[in-house]
This record gives sequence, structure tokens and C-alpha cells, in this order.
Amino acid sequence: MHQKRWVVGNWKMNLGLAEAEVLAGAIAQASEALPAVEVVIAPSTPFLIPIKEKLKFTSKNFGLATQFVSAWPKGAYTGDVSAVQLKGIVTYAIIGHSERRKLHHAAEIVHDQVRQALENGLTPIICFGEPTRSASFSPSILTDLKRDLADLRKEELEKCIFAYEPLWAIGTGDAATPAYITKVVSRVREWFTVTYDLTMPILYGGSVTADNAQELADVKEIAGVLVGGASLNITSFTDICRAFAGQLE
Ligand code: PGA
Repeated sequence: MHQKRWVVGNWKMNLGLAEAEVLAGAIAQASEALPAVEVVIAPSTPFLIPIKEKLKFTSKNFGLATQFVSAWPKGAYTGDVSAVQLKGIVTYAIIGHSERRKLHHAAEIVHDQVRQALENGLTPIICFGEPTRSASFSPSILTDLKRDLADLRKEELEKCIFAYEPLWAIGTGDAATPAYITKVVSRVREWFTVTYDLTMPILYGGSVTADNAQELADVKEIAGVLVGGASLNITSFTDICRAFAGQLE
């Protein structure tokens, strides 16, 4: 299993600049006492630079992520932000989140987004997950991963993190159970081993809260969590970080 653990807060399109700076400061400060976990936040794009400038002296285990990245390096792509432009500002790039796949772009460009992130030294956090709850393993998961990863080489894949986010669990308050997560993630890990001979870090996302954080932290198959709603509250987010650092009383 993976030794390193991540707790990633996906703020989505929430908070104004002043609130974002305060919350980022509080999370960065809390992360100093939790060196066993990599604490990452993904604020809205225009706030990345002010937050980065405010947090000049934060701990090594605190990082910034972009919520998306363009599939192209530059040019006539209105509204896009490229990995070239994000380089030096963020460390991580959340790629292929289901909300973006549903509302903004075709699944076919996820692969090029991953490539752009890798070419510019960003660590992709690649999201995948089945649309509906299923008693058996959903084959669409591997179909999606095969398309998104396509020709990526093992050396490139080694630089990626994955996030298993069942679509039915995102924002619903209905998190997948540890047994369900174990069933899906172990199957995906097995596929990575057979196909690439790699042990990949896979996070879980979908209605993670301070209340279910400890039982999720006990799931050996996952290397952390991607948190939406609960990442907007300092108490719940730090409790989730503590659970994954093994420090929740
Ligand atoms: P949620 O969102 O924690 O609010 O369910 C998770 C996500 O979309 O990454």
C-alpha cells in the first residue's frame, strides 16, 4: 500500500477572496501539526496567486491545486487556463472531475489535459468513477481509464495520483461504504499492477465528512480523500486531515 497520504479540498466555485484567504491560512497553519499527511486545497483560479502570496511561509506538506487545466498549451481557447500558465503557482491539477466532464468538456480531452499537466511539472489528480451504484464492478471505470491514460508511459503514470469518485456519492451525503470502496479500488489497483506493474495512489471522494473520515482512513486501499463540501469548513476539514494523519482522538 502507499505510504504517503493526501487530503485534498476541492472548493469548487465557492467563497469570495477574503473568505478564501482566511480559510487557506487556517488550513495551512493546521497542516503544520500534521506532517504525516499532504494537505492540498483547490481554490477558484483567480484566488490562487493571492493565496500563494499570503502563505509564503507554510509547511512543506501543504500544497495548492488547480480545479482544471486546459488540454492545449496556448492559443484561441476562450476561458481556458493552461498548465504552462499554472506552472509555478500550483503543484497539483485536478483533472476530469465529473462536474467538468458533465458540464464543460468531452471525456476525450482528459488525456490531453493529463499530458499538459505532466509536461509542465504539475501532479495530475485524475478522477474516475461509475455513474450509478452497482453490486458488481462497473466496467465503464476501466473503459474510462484506458481512454484517459491511452499512450501514457509508465514513467509518466508514476507521477499521477487518482481519485475514485463514484458520481452517485458526490454532493449527495451518501458516501460509498468502506466495503464498496475496497471492492472497486482493489480491482482498479489490480488493473494498474497487471497493465503497468505499478502501485498507484488512489484517493476516495464523494460525501467525505468529519463523521465518516475515520472509517475511510481505516480503508487500506485508499491513499487519502478528495473532499468537496466539508473542505469549506475549517473544523471539519482539519478533522478529516487529522484522521488521515492518524491523529484524530
Ligand atoms: P463532496 O464533493 O465531498 O461535496 O461530495 C466531492 C468532489 O466533488 O470532489
